[in-house]
Amino acid sequence: MSTRLTTLAQLRGVHNRLRSLALLLEEEELRTQYHDDLSPLGWHLGHCCYIENYWLREGIQGDDSKTAHLKDLYIPENSPKPERGGRLPDKETLLRQTLEDHEQNLLLLSGMAEPLAENKLLDNDYLPFFLIQHHAQHYETMLMVLTQRAYQRHRHDFFPSRRLIGRSPADDYVSLPECTYPIGGALPLAFDNELPAHSPELCAYSIRRTPASNAEYLGFIEAGGYEQQAYWSASGWEWLEKSQCQHPEHWRQDARGWWYGLSEDGPCDLKPEEPVHGINYYEAEAFARYADARLPQEHEWEAAQKLHSLQKTGIVWEWCKNPFAPYQDYIAFPYDRYSQAWFDDQHFVLKGGSRYTRPIIKRPSFRNFYNPDKRHIFAGCRLARSE
Ligand code: AVJ
Ligand code: FE
Repeated sequence: MSTRLTTLAQLRGVHNRLRSLALLLEEEELRTQYHDDLSPLGWHLGHCCYIENYWLREGIQGDDSKTAHLKDLYIPENSPKPERGGRLPDKETLLRQTLEDHEQNLLLLSGMAEPLAENKLLDNDYLPFFLIQHHAQHYETMLMVLTQRAYQRHRHDFFPSRRLIGRSPADDYVSLPECTYPIGGALPLAFDNELPAHSPELCAYSIRRTPASNAEYLGFIEAGGYEQQAYWSASGWEWLEKSQCQHPEHWRQDARGWWYGLSEDGPCDLKPEEPVHGINYYEAEAFARYADARLPQEHEWEAAQKLHSLQKTGIVWEWCKNPFAPYQDYIAFPYDRYSQAWFDDQHFVLKGGSRYTRPIIKRPSFRNFYNPDKRHIFAGCRLARSE
């Protein structure tokens, strides 16, 4: 049993990306927690390496020599976020050790050093694809860390070159008839939560061809969106009163009252037609109510995407109306905590992917999931309506 070269190349690619991000930061920055919900960047590199060593060595070969001593640091449930930074090895050790493990794991998967044990998890490269996609998700989270770091470094002296003007929501809906639509993914790429594929019947609906834009979201702000309780759900209003938010996470105003954005590269213009991001589920829900619409149910989003009816996907994650829940006859694999632990009605589905998401993740059936108050995840929304 050995892994296809194209799969190995993809795994090597994500290894290199993970290490490159860590290489960019100073020792102290690798340990710094830049956001309550985000681990230090160095921890993500170590965690990905741990997960890979766990599956390739402990999981399929029963060898825990690379993992036993790291379980308290790299298994999230064992490791309180604020303590992770202080327990990381120094930068030089972390990078040297991960490089060495990455090289050895690629060699192991190639089957060229020693024959790889027979294991069902290796069928059709399932396990290497699982690892590539696991790491790709942490890579995006590391970009969230770098983005939060950039927000904190901002000096308050930016003047955008163009004024962002609010506008009313566009009417570019596409209508889909009542019908059964194919939902779900296929192995070897699919995660457990994308299976089994099935064909639910959906009522007739319409969905916007484009995501909500910056200009449309400013229209909502200027219409008093953050002041009018009627737009907000009960839990949304509760969040709003507590957080006192008035605009997307990275939006700022200059001395003239013109809006601009912060990004990983510093302050920048907010382009009117670009999809808005930096909003949580509650804000997306309120925006939709203001626009006489609702968020799409995730199947509606997926069906429309599979019919190539959606434009500008993959720029921001798109909040869907429904909580993250298993499909009928769901079976947890390769481990319970990957999805099952999050079927708690406290997580909502996001579809599509952001500009920071690796292409391998950007398939119509992929289901992301976060708590409804999260704003740091490059998420916006797309409106839908029942017919
Ligand atoms: C599905 C992106 C929310 O990053 O917490 C990574 C994916 N699961 N390691 C996360 C995941 C285990 C997960 N998200
Ligand atoms: Fe993980």
